[in-house]
Amino acid sequence: MTDLAVIGLGYAGLPLAREAAAAGLSVAGYDVDPHVVTGLNGGRSHVGDVSDGDVRAMLHAGFTVTDDPAELSTAQAAVICVPTPLRADGSPDLRSVRRATETLAPYVGRGALVVLESTTYPGTTDQVVRPVLERVSGMTAGADFHLAFAPERIDPGNRGFGLRNTPKVVGGLMPCCAQAAAALYGKVCDTVVMAKGTREAEMAKLLENTYRNVNIALVNELAMVAHDLDVDLWDAIACAATKPFGFQPFHPGPGVGGHCIPVDPNYLIHQAHAAGSALRLVEIAQEINGSMPAYVVRRAAEVLGADGSLKGVSVLLAGVTYKENVCDLRETPARPIVRRLRAESANVTYHDPYVAAFTVDGEPVNRAADVVRAAATVDLTILLQAHGAYDLDAIVAAAPLVLDARGRTRNGAHLL
Ligand SMILES: NC(=O)c1ccc[n+]([C@@H]2O[C@H](COP(=O)([O-])OP(=O)(O)OC[C@H]3O[C@@H](n4cnc5c(N)ncnc54)[C@H](O)[C@@H]3O)[C@@H](O)[C@H]2O)c1
Repeated sequence: MTDLAVIGLGYAGLPLAREAAAAGLSVAGYDVDPHVVTGLNGGRSHVGDVSDGDVRAMLHAGFTVTDDPAELSTAQAAVICVPTPLRADGSPDLRSVRRATETLAPYVGRGALVVLESTTYPGTTDQVVRPVLERVSGMTAGADFHLAFAPERIDPGNRGFGLRNTPKVVGGLMPCCAQAAAALYGKVCDTVVMAKGTREAEMAKLLENTYRNVNIALVNELAMVAHDLDVDLWDAIACAATKPFGFQPFHPGPGVGGHCIPVDPNYLIHQAHAAGSALRLVEIAQEINGSMPAYVVRRAAEVLGADGSLKGVSVLLAGVTYKENVCDLRETPARPIVRRLRAESANVTYHDPYVAAFTVDGEPVNRAADVVRAAATVDLTILLQAHGAYDLDAIVAAAPLVLDARGRTRNGAHLL
């Protein structure tokens, strides 16, 4: 008997498997990517927050990794952690969720628990996952097996909060499903919060990420206005943040990235449209955040005094991951920035301690080995990520010009 099967062993699934194995549960991992399966079985992690040593300890504790779905048949609980990206037209792409559910469905036993963790719109667990499980298994959710949604809340690179000390929200199809899910997560998380149902748990996750997205859009738009008004917005934010209640600071940047913040609001927008409503504020926030890479390039031309032309100018992009101190390039704003700089015939180089090779539209971006030395040799350095490894004072001192898209340098750098 396996206590827990984790389906999808990426940024969300692997930390869950690690925590469960550490809590003494017998854990089986299932993934469709043979590289992931081979790597993990060889003791190698492909996820930044999970070390090779962690994987070896998990294997030592009995963690098994497979691409054979038959091995899911003995699982008392199965948690689906597969990607939920967007289609080319911006609508939700639930193909991985459907496929993972179809794979799991024949192996769900009577009394077992199935949990969806993938971020998705309200109604997915009930309307997409449940029908597949019931049709294939011939059983009824809530009566013969338990079904729940429990959003993944992982924050890659966050050393203070991980799976264990971040409260876990669970929403069951029926109260008995919520109780079964709470019993499972009670073994791997310090606090479990019961939502009214699956839809409320699904909405809670989208609310968290949409809240972030909208607030980032607010400060991004303010940054553009503040520049015109000759106001240091970062200083204003620091002052506002001294208010002990009613204000949470967000900071401008070159655009939002990652698998969640730019993507998840579209799941909500799509559902709102399907219901005949609009989510105007959220849609405008998407538009503002999506316009930031173009603004960065406009500011680059201004800083260079280049009359709008960047032709032949050498530009160093310092930090190309979507957030600082992680190696994740998904949806990074550095990509559209490279695209725009190339379109202007600028010569682009990048430096990132976390990224050995960076390719945009199939064409590699020139890599600098040392950020300070490279900054000294280019016309302009654009600080996109203030990685902890960067000596920002040294970069600013070495570079003829710095455009700081993070507001983290002082003394001579130009702010966004
Ligand atoms: N990465 C984060 O920081 C984060 C945070 C919160 C929520 N989430 C959500 O968690 C979910 C998973 O995201 P992720 O970042 O872990 O993705 P990921 O791409 O890192 O990992 C997903 C894994 O699922 C595997 N997979 C795809 N289809 C499968 C299938 N049918 N069966 C089995 N395995 C399959 C992939 O091969 C991959 O290894 C998404 O809905 C995401 O929005 C992610």
